[in-house]
Amino acid sequence: MTLDELELECKNCRKCPLCEGRTNLVFGTGKKDADIMLIGEGPGENEDLQGQPFVGRSGQLLDKFLASVDLSREKNVYIANMVKCRPPHNRDPKPEEQDICIEWLRQQFKIIRPKIIVCVGRISAQRLISPDFKVTKEHGTFVEKNGVLMMGTYHPAAILRNPNNKELAFQDWLALREKIDELGIDIG
Ligand code: URA
Ligand code: SF4
Repeated sequence: MTLDELELECKNCRKCPLCEGRTNLVFGTGKKDADIMLIGEGPGENEDLQGQPFVGRSGQLLDKFLASVDLSREKNVYIANMVKCRPPHNRDPKPEEQDICIEWLRQQFKIIRPKIIVCVGRISAQRLISPDFKVTKEHGTFVEKNGVLMMGTYHPAAILRNPNNKELAFQDWLALREKIDELGIDIG
């Protein structure tokens, strides 16, 4: 199964109630065999309208962070979300919705096989790194899980709400770049 085949299959998904509210399903985007995978929370309004992850204000900030360390969705990163359909009024995806949708993410992971996963924000960090993950305390710290390095960082939406965290978040992206270099990962 290729990533494109998986995406075609996913586009018809109606496994959880979030399918009711979607304009477009947001499967994910980026380099199909990226060594670095970013996982956000779920589509917002702009993402739902365009069918692409992180294309609103948060996305612009995320792309700036990525660019500052020579990373981009075009070149060397794959970006997906915990849930692929927009939660109503941008509420957090419910644990049971994540439990259902995570099967798609697992299959994406199995095809892409990234070496590093960055959890963008609390929702994915708590689901994928540890249930009591605290972004303020643990951001920028790498832990290994099943041979994959995982790190959680501030969600760009949280930085837009509280710009004081921007410098701390930037340090996380620098730490990611250092880890990439340390491991000798080729980012092209
Ligand atoms: N926030 C997310 O977590 N994901 C997106 O795709 C957009 C905003
Ligand atoms: Fe399917 Fe995930 Fe969309 Fe729910 S959120 S309908 S599980 S793709």
